[in-house]
Amino acid sequence: MKTLVTGGLGFIGSETVVKLIEAGHEAVIVDNLSNSKLAVLDRIEGITNVRPRFYKIDLCNLDAITDVMEKERPEAVIHFAGLKAVGESVEKPLMYYHNNLLSTMNLLDAMRKFDCHNIVFSSSATVYGVPEHVPLVETDPVGHATNPYGETKVMIEHILMDVQKSWPELNVALLRYFNPIGGHPSGLLGEDPNGIPNNLMPYITQVAIGKRDHLRVWGNTYPTPDGTGIRDYIHVLDLAEGHVATLKKLAQNPGLVIYNLGTGKGTSVLEMVHAFEKATGVKIPYIIYPVRPGDVAENYANCDKAAKELGWKAKFDVVDACRDAYNFQKKNPNGIE
Ligand code: NAD
Ligand code: UFG
Repeated sequence: MKTLVTGGLGFIGSETVVKLIEAGHEAVIVDNLSNSKLAVLDRIEGITNVRPRFYKIDLCNLDAITDVMEKERPEAVIHFAGLKAVGESVEKPLMYYHNNLLSTMNLLDAMRKFDCHNIVFSSSATVYGVPEHVPLVETDPVGHATNPYGETKVMIEHILMDVQKSWPELNVALLRYFNPIGGHPSGLLGEDPNGIPNNLMPYITQVAIGKRDHLRVWGNTYPTPDGTGIRDYIHVLDLAEGHVATLKKLAQNPGLVIYNLGTGKGTSVLEMVHAFEKATGVKIPYIIYPVRPGDVAENYANCDKAAKELGWKAKFDVVDACRDAYNFQKKNPNGIE
């Protein structure tokens, strides 16, 4: 299927482009490079021997995305493009609402114009807000995200559902990712955050290569077995395959579908430190700090629906993901250059 991948040079998008090509799809990328590098395109080519067509455009520019849609006429869109830093979204909410909402609305407008009627959207476990119970299932209440970034995901889910109602031929998949980590086993693709990483795995890998002194563990007084926060870490390769499986599902014209993409297994911060040490043999010094405001104790997915309806299941565990994340970090100590 010819697929337009927005944000296709980012962390999850680039791995998904590789999986799409490997599965025999044609991928076309749009990205404004606000959080990615053009060199990622060379790396995708290095892995697949295919250089996808790339358009450096901002999706907030309606004319630009309309032109691409007219030229390429894709059958499906996977919409990764968006800003994703929780803390930054609290400081600059308008930037997040503007970028994430306008880009999605423009994309839908252009899709409608050229009758592209399949879209996969990168949603997040953040739409569940503070979970009342775990594991989370797709029918659990959505809303009251704890920050503007999360609110954009809630709002975009609503926008897509409303547009789907008004345009029944449109197939929409809302994929709620849990915590993507890891990288391509070649060490060519991985997570490349700007500045001090907010997320656990890139912070650990930077400690491992000596770029940071120690891991700051945000609290050990949660009601969890070791007191540290529990999350559902999913290898980005598994996540990428989930998108390929979802495209197959959309080809059956299901209308609106919603899936959690996680592993179904929770891992605490300290368990992650031990998994990393096991995978790499590198010791990760850590110090316990006060809890990070806005964090929840425990968050993991029930992924039975994706298993049943997509025939998809995560194959890798956190030890695999630690090995691949470390490999990427070692080969790219200063990120992708
Ligand atoms: P990323 O920042 O690596 O990739 C997003 C890409 O979108 C970047 O390459 C960026 O340059 C591009 N982009 C942003 N705004 C754009 C615009 N207006 N026009 C064109 N391109 C634009 O992020 P990622 O980790 O790969 O995440 C991909 C998607 O998955 C995002 O929507 C994110 O919110 C969602 N998600 C990520 C996580 C996670 O932990 N990484 C968890 C849940 C959901
Ligand atoms: N943590 C630390 N030290 C760090 C970083 C994280 O102890 O330096 C802990 C956190 O307190 C938490 C766990 O590691 O218990 C995971 O934290 P991350 O920041 O990696 O991930 P979050 O679950 O907080 O956030 C992620 C995405 C968000 C998304 C959210 C809910 O980064 O975009 O999942 O889906 F909104």
